[in-house]
Amino acid sequence: MQKINPLSFSGLALIAVPFLAMAGAPALFPASAARGQVVYSKACTACHGENGDGNGPGAGPLNPKPRDFTSGLYKYRSTGFGELPTDEDLLQVINEGIPHSQMPPWKHTLSEQERLDVVAYIKGFSSDFKDAKPPEVLVIPETPASSPALVQEGRKVFMALQCWSCHGTEGHGDGKAASILMDNWGHPIRPVNFTWAQYKRGNDPASIYKTFTTGLNGTPMPSFAGAFLFGGDKEIDSTTKASFSALEIKQLEDYFKAQPTEAALNNMAAEKKNELEQQRKWALVHYLRSLIQKPTIQQQLFTEDMELTR
Ligand code: HEC
Ligand code: HEC
Repeated sequence: MQKINPLSFSGLALIAVPFLAMAGAPALFPASAARGQVVYSKACTACHGENGDGNGPGAGPLNPKPRDFTSGLYKYRSTGFGELPTDEDLLQVINEGIPHSQMPPWKHTLSEQERLDVVAYIKGFSSDFKDAKPPEVLVIPETPASSPALVQEGRKVFMALQCWSCHGTEGHGDGKAASILMDNWGHPIRPVNFTWAQYKRGNDPASIYKTFTTGLNGTPMPSFAGAFLFGGDKEIDSTTKASFSALEIKQLEDYFKAQPTEAALNNMAAEKKNELEQQRKWALVHYLRSLIQKPTIQQQLFTEDMELTR
């Protein structure tokens, strides 16, 4: 194998070429970590390192850094905060890659068998996966259609849950807390900009729902799983008041007034409570999606170029 520069596309093509013949072929055998090691050493070591610690020869200049697989901490999971990802979670990231980072998509360059095998192999880097019970997977209800009312409500939920303290009042990733955030490995990390044309985990409603429900392990992005059942008698604190216009604060007050109080929530039937929670969660999803910008001409050209090189 020649030395490759993981930052250049020709480098990526070099990794890709040996696999192209088999790309797209369906898996025939159960996943094998032994076969996965061969795939890993060809396609992943340059960034993730031979030992899986994220310190491959090409990792130095990358921001964000390649994941350290020895930590067992994964961002994109369908499981609770602090839990391990499922094999499907890992496979999805490997298939699709991570936009706004150097993690490439592999679905076009590795066969399904190779992708399944490499999942089995990278799990071996962390002892957390040994003997672990399969983690509970979040069940995501069907996405309700968006509406202007839901988007407006989502803006209130965004204000109430203080997403803006990191992501910024207009979602540009520039909240007051944004510049000092660090990930678990001591590297600076920025909250994402919600106006990006392409989110790191994908723009579909279910992925956004998953992210704020499960949090992103190893990063300051918390899980808000238990935060959506706030009462309408919740006080609006001074930082919130100082961060938004008087008009928006008035609208938030009006929204709170129309919501059940803490005491009413305590007496609410479980089913109704769940309905209220889902309503607020999807409102937030649709609000965030309303901020997404259409891709620019350059982005479109770049994507087409990527298609050509595949
Ligand atoms: C060119 C560099 C590069 C190569 C090659 C690469 N990765 Fe990555 N990978 C990254 C970076 C950078 C991240 C972290 C992105 C982030 O945190 O936003 C990452 C993250 C990941 C994650 C973490 C997802 C999560 O939920 O936290 C997995 C799994 C992964 N890579 C698997 C692989 C596998 C398997 C291969 C080989 C088939 C591979 N990567 C090859 C750069 C690379
Ligand atoms: C303490 C700071 C902080 C707060 C508060 C916070 N976030 Fe985040 N958020 C982050 C960071 C850091 C990331 C990860 C960036 C990365 O992985 O590169 C992130 C990532 C995300 C993503 C992933 C987007 C993508 O590209 O896939 C979503 C969605 C998100 N946050 C939604 C929210 C919502 C909704 C709230 C409020 C309910 C919230 N965040 C509150 C810091 C925060």
